[in-house]
Amino acid sequence: MSKVTMAYFLNSLVNNDSRYLMCFQLFLERSSEHQCMKDFIHQQLPHILDSVGDGKSDLNVIGVGSGAGEIDLEMLSVLHQKHPGLMVDMEVVDPSSLQLHSYRDLVSKKPDLDYVKFTWNEMTSSEFEERWQLKRSTKKADFIHMIQMLYYVKDPGATISFFQSLLNKNGKLLIILVSGESGWGKLWQSYKDQLCCTDISQCVTTGDIKNLLSTKGVNFHSYELPSQMDISECFIEGDEKGELLLDFLTEVQDFSKTASPELKDGVLDLLRHPDCSVQSNGKVIFNNTLEAIVIEQLN
Ligand SMILES: C[S@@+](CC[C@H](N)C(=O)[O-])C[C@H]1O[C@@H](n2cnc3c(N)ncnc32)[C@H](O)[C@@H]1O
Repeated sequence: MSKVTMAYFLNSLVNNDSRYLMCFQLFLERSSEHQCMKDFIHQQLPHILDSVGDGKSDLNVIGVGSGAGEIDLEMLSVLHQKHPGLMVDMEVVDPSSLQLHSYRDLVSKKPDLDYVKFTWNEMTSSEFEERWQLKRSTKKADFIHMIQMLYYVKDPGATISFFQSLLNKNGKLLIILVSGESGWGKLWQSYKDQLCCTDISQCVTTGDIKNLLSTKGVNFHSYELPSQMDISECFIEGDEKGELLLDFLTEVQDFSKTASPELKDGVLDLLRHPDCSVQSNGKVIFNNTLEAIVIEQLN
């Protein structure tokens, strides 16, 4: 009797913009992701932005992978408080038309942004880089941020180098990603090869970025942003929201339905393991700790 082996094809979540957005929105609702960023923005960022824009009449800012803009606008308000008289030229770079639409919608509802001129670039960071080089632009930036986006580029090191090369004197490049010590870091240590199946969905943590910068001799500061995510629904078989959260955690479309039983069991076991989560009041709380890395252009 011949043995039939089932093949399991995992499709990356990033190939499905609308499902990705549904998953990301639910992730934001179930986690303290944006709250921990806002705490960082109000407690640490004002000091980080202290020397940005010294002696200038306007500021150039680039947001890479800005999404729906909620965090960008929070940072712009801090920048404005620091430098109330300065106009801001803001380049927004994101390939998702859905996200850019939400961002523009948010901007249209805020009456107090008349100090900002937005330029919308519906494209990936590498397309932005190509255009920049074609234009032979000599424009420099005072503040560049990449919040939770370096997972989606082919070569995170090259992307950082390019944007670092655009910094003005005293300019700052802010990167936020999950920490190597987070549940994400532990999940990827065990399942990177089986989950991150495309070169546009990398399992990169701040641990990797810090190693890379140290190897290149680039100075940086880092800040831990403690954060949690309630993943209890992932353990209710057939739960629709649990499935969306699992897709987001694994970056695989329909993970529950398309992963092999062994992979699914292994991932679920690890997600509730103390390496990744704590159990509290009957809930499974995943360690979503982030880390901010700040690179400064000194000259
Ligand atoms: C996890 S979301 C983060 C959004 C926002 N920065 C935040 O923290 O709320 C990742 C964003 O990166 C964008 N993105 C994906 N691939 C990208 C690329 N190659 N270059 C620039 N942005 C990209 C996505 O469209 C999405 O808006």
